[in-house]
Amino acid sequence: MHVGLLLLAGLSVASARGPLRRKQQEANIAARASSSNYTYATIQQPIDHFPTKEIYAPHTNDTFAQRYVFDASYYKPGGPVFLYVGGETSLEYRLSNLETGIIQILMNATGGLGVIIENRYYGESYPYIDLSTDHLAYLTNEQTIADFAYFAQHATFDGVNASLTAPSTPWIMYGGSLAGAQTSFTVKTYPDIIYGGIAASQVLNVSVEYPQWYAPIQKYGPSDCVASINDIVDKFDWLVAANNTAAITELKSIFGLESLTDNRDFAKTINYPIGNPFDYPTDTWQELIWTDEESQFWEFCGTVTDIDAPENVTAIDEQMAQYTNGEAWTNLGNYAGYIKDVILPTCPSGRYASGECFGQGNVTYWTKLVDPGTRSYLYTMCYEAGLYQAAPRDGKSLLSRVVTGAYSQEICTMAFPPGEYNSIPSSPNLDLWNGYGGFNFSADRLAFIDGEQDPWLDSCYHSNEAPARYSSDLHPEYLIEVGGHHWDSYGILDIPAEPQFIRQAHYWEIKTVKKWLRNFSSWTPGNSSSTLVR
Ligand SMILES: *[C@@H]1O[C@H](CO)[C@@H](O)[C@H](O)[C@H]1NC(C)=O
Ligand SMILES: *[C@@H]1O[C@H](CO)[C@@H](O)[C@H](O)[C@H]1NC(C)=O
Ligand SMILES: *[C@@H]1O[C@H](CO)[C@@H](O)[C@H](O)[C@H]1NC(C)=O
Ligand SMILES: *[C@@H]1O[C@H](CO)[C@@H](O)[C@H](O)[C@H]1NC(C)=O
Ligand SMILES: *[C@@H]1O[C@H](CO)[C@@H](O)[C@H](O)[C@H]1NC(C)=O
Ligand SMILES: *[C@@H]1O[C@H](CO)[C@@H](O)[C@H](O)[C@H]1NC(C)=O
Ligand SMILES: *[C@@H]1O[C@H](CO)[C@@H](O)[C@H](O)[C@H]1NC(C)=O
Ligand SMILES: *[C@@H]1O[C@H](CO)[C@@H](O)[C@H](O)[C@H]1NC(C)=O
Ligand SMILES: *[C@@H]1O[C@H](CO)[C@@H](O)[C@H](O)[C@H]1NC(C)=O
Ligand SMILES: *[C@@H]1O[C@H](CO)[C@@H](O)[C@H](O)[C@H]1NC(C)=O
Ligand SMILES: *[C@@H]1O[C@H](CO)[C@@H](O)[C@H](O)[C@H]1NC(C)=O
Repeated sequence: MHVGLLLLAGLSVASARGPLRRKQQEANIAARASSSNYTYATIQQPIDHFPTKEIYAPHTNDTFAQRYVFDASYYKPGGPVFLYVGGETSLEYRLSNLETGIIQILMNATGGLGVIIENRYYGESYPYIDLSTDHLAYLTNEQTIADFAYFAQHATFDGVNASLTAPSTPWIMYGGSLAGAQTSFTVKTYPDIIYGGIAASQVLNVSVEYPQWYAPIQKYGPSDCVASINDIVDKFDWLVAANNTAAITELKSIFGLESLTDNRDFAKTINYPIGNPFDYPTDTWQELIWTDEESQFWEFCGTVTDIDAPENVTAIDEQMAQYTNGEAWTNLGNYAGYIKDVILPTCPSGRYASGECFGQGNVTYWTKLVDPGTRSYLYTMCYEAGLYQAAPRDGKSLLSRVVTGAYSQEICTMAFPPGEYNSIPSSPNLDLWNGYGGFNFSADRLAFIDGEQDPWLDSCYHSNEAPARYSSDLHPEYLIEVGGHHWDSYGILDIPAEPQFIRQAHYWEIKTVKKWLRNFSSWTPGNSSSTLVR
């Protein structure tokens, strides 16, 4: 029962908000798709897959139309189905995976059919138009992954002369990021239906705060840029600790942001080019992709460290020295100039302190004005995922230490006032997520693939905090040394021409899936050697 209005809102603005919600760089993807062989369809999906579970009371027997799109042009009789999980965005933003990315690669290698399913509460697949707290009760991992299992058992593919439902046809899932976690959860929960899956950058182990997001940038980012930001953050935090309000106000005005009276709003705003809790307007380290060497992140660091900046810009570095024992704020002028030139114009109203711009927002903003996709994503964070970006507790920081998890939790409280039947916990219920296994996660024919330089690495299978990993055909794993956030999902229709670390990862994924498929005829659905943790 979706409605067109919602669809428009979701499509136009839902792409950028949220740290896991990768900014969309592919232009005109929808236009390209219309000229191809893709077939769009919907399936009537039960809103409530758990009619006896207390938390879903008062329950509903209604269904909603869940969208999917498939490409059968590589399909050969007997081939597998590759199910790509759309995750926290609309279908259109994932089409490149069918067209040039990992699903294309696997379809071509195996004669498979590729299908992208749009997650409930995203794109056009909304069970309800009004995203009240009560109506969001059905947006849980458990319901989301039940959709995938139901879909695998009931999907139809118009124009394909075969029934391709699971478990008689091998269904292999793929998901990256949030969808990577959901892929893992599905493969483990439904071993009687889903044959296998590849989970990329799959955020398996969640915590309320996730300061590790900044670790790869701190470690691998351009070191002069990183050092300048670290130093400016230290000096700002020192002024905050000293409660030097005059100096803080002067610093804010250098950035044109004196209207941000809350220090956290200010700290967040000047951190936008690096990355932030819930949203950021420009591409950060997380949005780097190997298929495109351009990035606003490089532009930002280049500007901050410009050694040829004019004198009236470098003079700003001295302006604040009087507050820091005569020590200059190196590159402050360059930094402030970038924020003024690139970030401030993203708020055309000039009302910087409003929720639409750089302020924390209020109940009206978070319940009525924010776009539906952002609201859905936020609900998942507040309800069961956490992962609030925050400053690290030790060592140098790229984000002021005034930004903690509490800042994000305030948004949750504003956005989801208690409903009649449903309310969010005072802190995310991480057990719902980590209960699937956390770093101990294991399921047969579930492959984990991560990137060494991904900001989400420490929440993933290959986290620095996880045990040493060893691969096998049944439990394969791969860490891409030169790899970012689910970098294996991107392709260029020419594997030999890819950069070496991605190329090898793609060959590995092909071999892994082919080995699984060779064993399909001897598979007993539901016979999993892994024990369910929950
Ligand atoms: C559509 O599929 C056919 C094979 O079934 C292929 O030859 C053709 O190139 C495809 N067209 C596009 C636009 O992808
Ligand atoms: C759903 O349908 C079942 C079977 O007809 C019925 O027992 C149940 O009360 C219905 N649930 C709701 C919420 O209407
Ligand atoms: C569909 O497949 C069946 C066998 O599976 C075959 O007999 C029939 O000719 C096929 N129809 C078309 C239109 O290809
Ligand atoms: C893993 O989860 C536990 C429980 O939330 C948490 O204490 C720990 O910090 C998490 N590790 C990472 C890397 O998120
Ligand atoms: C900080 O300074 C302001 C005025 O400069 C004062 O009103 C406030 O009480 C001070 N806060 C602390 C924690 O000292
Ligand atoms: C520096 O001077 C140039 C040229 O007069 C001017 O365009 C620019 O706005 C000035 N920048 C700052 C930060 O004052
Ligand atoms: C709440 O936020 C909305 C949207 O930004 C704004 O129009 C309104 O003035 C704010 N209300 C208050 C009391 O600040
Ligand atoms: C993971 O496994 C280890 C060793 O069996 C155990 O000590 C630990 O408690 C487990 N952690 C979780 C989150 O299940
Ligand atoms: C295939 O099946 C054989 C025999 O059951 C087993 O030893 C092997 O591990 C399986 N390989 C894969 C990739 O599942
Ligand atoms: C498809 O796979 C074959 C090898 O099996 C390879 O030669 C060809 O380049 C691939 N084509 C695309 C478009 O991926
Ligand atoms: C499950 O698989 C194991 C090993 O792959 C095999 O030994 C066992 O007989 C199977 N059980 C059933 C019920 O098929």
